Amino acid sequence: MAENNQRAGNPAQWSSRFAFIMAAVGSAVGLGNIWKFPYITGENGGGAFVLVYLACIAVIGLPIMVAEVMLGRRGGKSPIGTMAMVAGSEGRSRGWAGVGIMATLTAFIILSFYSVIAGWTMPYILAAVGGEFSGIAAEESGALFGGLLASPGQLLLWHSVFMGLTVLVSAGGVRHGLERAVTKLMPALFVLLLILVGYAMTTGHFGEAIGFLFRPDFSALTAEAVLVALGHAFFTLSLASGAMMAYGAYLKKDVSIARTSVVVAFMDTGVALLAGLAIFPIVFANGLEPGAGPGLIFVTLPVAFGQMPGSSFFATLFFVLLLFAAWSSSISMLESLVSYLNEKGVSRVKAAVGGGLVAWLVGITTVLSLNEWAGFTPLGMFERFEGKTLFDLYDYLTANIMMPLGALLTALFVGWKMKPAHSAAELGSWHRVWYPVVRYLSPIALLIVFYFNLK
Ligand code: PHE
Repeated sequence: MAENNQRAGNPAQWSSRFAFIMAAVGSAVGLGNIWKFPYITGENGGGAFVLVYLACIAVIGLPIMVAEVMLGRRGGKSPIGTMAMVAGSEGRSRGWAGVGIMATLTAFIILSFYSVIAGWTMPYILAAVGGEFSGIAAEESGALFGGLLASPGQLLLWHSVFMGLTVLVSAGGVRHGLERAVTKLMPALFVLLLILVGYAMTTGHFGEAIGFLFRPDFSALTAEAVLVALGHAFFTLSLASGAMMAYGAYLKKDVSIARTSVVVAFMDTGVALLAGLAIFPIVFANGLEPGAGPGLIFVTLPVAFGQMPGSSFFATLFFVLLLFAAWSSSISMLESLVSYLNEKGVSRVKAAVGGGLVAWLVGITTVLSLNEWAGFTPLGMFERFEGKTLFDLYDYLTANIMMPLGALLTALFVGWKMKPAHSAAELGSWHRVWYPVVRYLSPIALLIVFYFNLK
């Protein structure tokens, strides 16, 4: 810890390219892949949505990831410090630090509700250990989940525990605990997902799920769904939130940023698709509703586990791994803020505790959105926000507005304000492909999506 404090502005580096990949994958792979991707795919009609999402990852997400890691490594500071410094050294306004400020704020809002959802995994671990899922029917599983949401006390308890865990690692410096943990947990999660997909194949509804996920029906696609797909591409890759920029600052100079980013994006997308392949067969086999919303995996997976031999073991393992996947993501959400405060002379411990405390307080409004305040829809007078609780609004504001906007500004900065020779020095031969994409293709695609949504 002392090492971290002393090294403010000259942060410790990842021990290897593999360590960076694992930390970046740890940040990227989380609730976004396993909880959010299946439920928003279900809500937005399947195939066409998945296709748009994959296109967003390739055309916008990946190039922006390369841009953020590149900026992070060049600046070597917190996202706010990095943006100010790189802009200054390019002879541009230091006002570009605003991109870093918005990213830090985005990550902070996400953390506040992410912690509440991640908290759900813990009562599920306890239920799994207690064998409660064995032979459970879909209705009982739905009732179990409903009971959890209806209890502000329980939600608050687990939200508090999860935020505590996040602060704990963040205070100690990301390299210490995180590096070692993620290198083992991420591969384990992957294997467990494969087992679940194997089970899903036995339900007799695997073909139906494949059709749902991969047969596009463009008549079902709305402009809003495209925006949701775009927003999710940023959310799932941890972009426009300072996470990748902050981690890029700890990356050694001799590592290929483009190759590494491709690996991270592939793994992240792979996990999401596997989660979809595991969940939708169960949904169809049990007559559940694909568009059921945020409870989707918490209702469906216990049913699947309950029918497997060794149900208690697999279910426990799954929710433990999901908890860890969420944990390695939440830590990265706090990193922008903590690294910034650290630069300003605040110790990592104080910064992490302070930041975590405020995010925890804001998170309480998400806890209440799920029960007592479920009818409180402060922006309900606008058609777009009809029926949206505070929790829904945080999600919408970050994924669908702040992240695409932050990404647009980042693309404009690296594509138009930064000297191409400088980015080429970081990216090598990949620069030739990347540069025209971030300069033209990504911003134009982003503007088109914005246009159709504001129209
Ligand atoms: N990518 C993470 C997930 O899919 C969420 C995240 C968003 C992490 C922003 C860091 C920053 O769960």
